Amino acid sequence: MRKPLIVGNWKMYKTITEAVAYVDRIKAQLPPADQVEVELAVPTLFLQSLVERTRGTNLKIAAENCFYQDEGAFTGETSPVALRELGIKHVILGHSERRRLFYESDAVVNQKVHAALQAGICPLLCVDETMKRQVQGDRVQWVVSQVLTGLAGVTAAQLPRVTLAYEPSWAIGAGKAAATPSEANEGCYLIRQTLARLYGESAAARVRILYGGSVNQTNLPALLAQSDIDGVLIGRASLDPAVFLQMVAVA
Ligand code: G3H
Repeated sequence: MRKPLIVGNWKMYKTITEAVAYVDRIKAQLPPADQVEVELAVPTLFLQSLVERTRGTNLKIAAENCFYQDEGAFTGETSPVALRELGIKHVILGHSERRRLFYESDAVVNQKVHAALQAGICPLLCVDETMKRQVQGDRVQWVVSQVLTGLAGVTAAQLPRVTLAYEPSWAIGAGKAAATPSEANEGCYLIRQTLARLYGESAAARVRILYGGSVNQTNLPALLAQSDIDGVLIGRASLDPAVFLQMVAVA
């Protein structure tokens, strides 16, 4: 019922030359969109060029972030309306790196979710979980509160346009180990249960929830086999086009 979604998140890697070469290499080799949806979230600088190069293919280009206002005196920020005009349909919001390094609060993330929806862009809302929360045993409350605050004011009619990702920061980045498939599924299930409380079981059952954090070719099949994991958000392993293609083929 929920089509798998594979998202590569390039973060702040690659130059435009590298980005173009990567996209030209993989865009014609992807499975059809009715089997699996494939997206690359790329730095803002590359968006226009990559959207043009991928038109008509099953590779969708997403933004890694946007601001919560459409326009104004906000130096360095990116307008969701301007993204939409470029043809961008998805944006990652609330990534743990934005929360940790750029001090984005749940309230700011919620404003961004609304701005994106208003502009006609589907948010991919990331839900973080720190090691401290795991150790303290208050991870459930932490995850639930991020869903409640991140989606505050989002209507049932808007919910089908939202995707969520469970991305424990203890599993993200070089030197970290991914969550086990059952830990990852537990986080995704917790998000889905929270959605069910907010919007009802059947609406929650239709929302796609991804797992992110050290996903690679080896652990991907077991992650995708879990009941509540509908896809993955891949950082490092998405940087190599050959590896990314192999991972998409598994889905
Ligand atoms: O957005 C992707 C996540 O931050 C995961 O990154 O696969 O490099 O651990 P990673």
